[in-house]
Amino acid sequence: MDPTPITDVPATRPQLIAPDTWLIPNLAHAGDGLYLPVNSMLIRGREPVIVDTGAPVHRALWLEKVFGIVEPEDVRWIFLSHDDGDHTGALFDVLERCRNATLVTNFFSVERLALEKPALPLERMRWIEPGGSFDAGDRVLQLFRPPIFDGPTTRGLFDPKTAAMWIVDSFACFTPGSLDADELPQDLLEQVMPALNSAVSPWHAWLDRAAYARHVAAVEAFGARTVASAHGPVLRDERLDDAFDRLRRLAGAPIIPTPGQELLDALLAPTLVEAEA
Ligand SMILES: [Fe+2]
Ligand SMILES: [Fe+2]
Repeated sequence: MDPTPITDVPATRPQLIAPDTWLIPNLAHAGDGLYLPVNSMLIRGREPVIVDTGAPVHRALWLEKVFGIVEPEDVRWIFLSHDDGDHTGALFDVLERCRNATLVTNFFSVERLALEKPALPLERMRWIEPGGSFDAGDRVLQLFRPPIFDGPTTRGLFDPKTAAMWIVDSFACFTPGSLDADELPQDLLEQVMPALNSAVSPWHAWLDRAAYARHVAAVEAFGARTVASAHGPVLRDERLDDAFDRLRRLAGAPIIPTPGQELLDALLAPTLVEAEA
């Protein structure tokens, strides 16, 4: 059964964020006039690459947005960052409609998806590990392990031709609507982004600072100039430097608590008042 589609959120449109590179945004409610981005990406080069396939709640919107800027038969690659539901929403539609596309994924994603989805076509896949790459005609896309991730199968993607990076579930942040970090209130970037990074990867509390700093430095060493993610704004320049700095500071720091029963009580309060009236 499909989930109820999300419709009553600010309208978003695909945005050109680097040459040939489109962010495909969608939003979900996060309370208090804020929204959680649920993005994916399209690289429309010689061999177009769809980067993740959105969430099931946005499936129809996602298909409209993506196939408004690329013809399904032109798509040659589907890069699946990992097997989480909010990245695989339109995966089967894309496999069905993009008959010339190869799915870039990995062994463990396929194992995990086999428990919840129909069988995937093994003959249309490539399994590529972090450190590996694939040739999309006019660019060789590089896979890496992002600094923050909520699934062990996660791989990010770097495009050396445009210096654009897909960093998956790292750098998540609520937004009033914009997907441009320059337009976001500073307190969201300084407080909510670290809180969501902590929620996504609470294991940061047990990290060795020096070891983690080396991993973050290795990701920075790609030299990305535009960093897009599934759940945050597009980051560039000092906004990007700041985001990496805040990430490093999470190593060995306490887990940032997520809302508990108090929030649930507050959410249910209007319903209870109504029921008592
Ligand atoms: Fe995830
Ligand atoms: Fe995600």
